[in-house]
Amino acid sequence: MFSALNASASKDQTVPRHVAIVMDGNGRWAKRRFMPRGMGHKAGVDALVTVVQAAADRGIGFLTVFAFSSENWKRPEEEVSGLMSLLIVALSKHLTKLRTDGVQIRVVGDLAGVSPKVRQALLDACEATAHNERLVLTVAFNYGGRWDVLQACRRIVADGLSPDRIDEATMSRYMAMSYAPDPDLFIRTGGEVRLSNFLLWQSAYAELVFTDCLWPDFDGRELDKALETFRRRERRFGDVGQDDEPPASGLAVNTPGN
Ligand code: IPE
Ligand code: IPE
Ligand code: MG
Repeated sequence: MFSALNASASKDQTVPRHVAIVMDGNGRWAKRRFMPRGMGHKAGVDALVTVVQAAADRGIGFLTVFAFSSENWKRPEEEVSGLMSLLIVALSKHLTKLRTDGVQIRVVGDLAGVSPKVRQALLDACEATAHNERLVLTVAFNYGGRWDVLQACRRIVADGLSPDRIDEATMSRYMAMSYAPDPDLFIRTGGEVRLSNFLLWQSAYAELVFTDCLWPDFDGRELDKALETFRRRERRFGDVGQDDEPPASGLAVNTPGN
């Protein structure tokens, strides 16, 4: 499915087809302004709306954002319920514009673990935008990379696949984001240098970019900086670098005296 989407951008190797973002730093952004953490999350929604537009303008086909992790339930109840309400408010406020802008919303995560109201709001947003093709915005909600690997394994066992039929391609098909190519660029804002259980399987060969910019301050310019870093990277996927290619004659080894 994804090969048809955004075909022009996918030919340009310098623009990542899929960008994944850990939107971190909302709490610190608010704290610096002597505001409650919830205000940081609210500002984070505005940043997301800006970045979705910027990503679409730059020809990125898939944008995946970490909105709530399977570990975020550890937070104070007030913050968790605030985040749940914010999701519902944000979807109702921005859905019409996202739909008319050609954004297809998808959700990955353990939706059985969220309230029926939150689940319905997410599913309604997916349904309302299912026909769109400009940009696929995946919201990772109650998501964890380990949960994703586990749910894939469970479904493989439930489908009765024999061990010799299970390879990496099979696993990828059972992972929650089977509809998308693996992320090319993995951005984390907020200064922490860790994955925090996001897209563990899918990010095996993603280029990692960490920035101190707090998520509410992230915008098109910050995205461009990350894209520029990505452009300068040489992706080798385990192969030798381009400068190390053997000459056209095929002589890979130069022994003294040759
Ligand atoms: C990320 O910002 C948003 C969510 C995890 C929902 P944080 O709330 O983690 O912000 P910091 O890391 O405390 O600054
Ligand atoms: C990761 O941020 C999760 C999201 C951005 C949704 P956290 O703030 O939860 O990560 P840790 O706790 O610093 O690893
Ligand atoms: Mg954080």
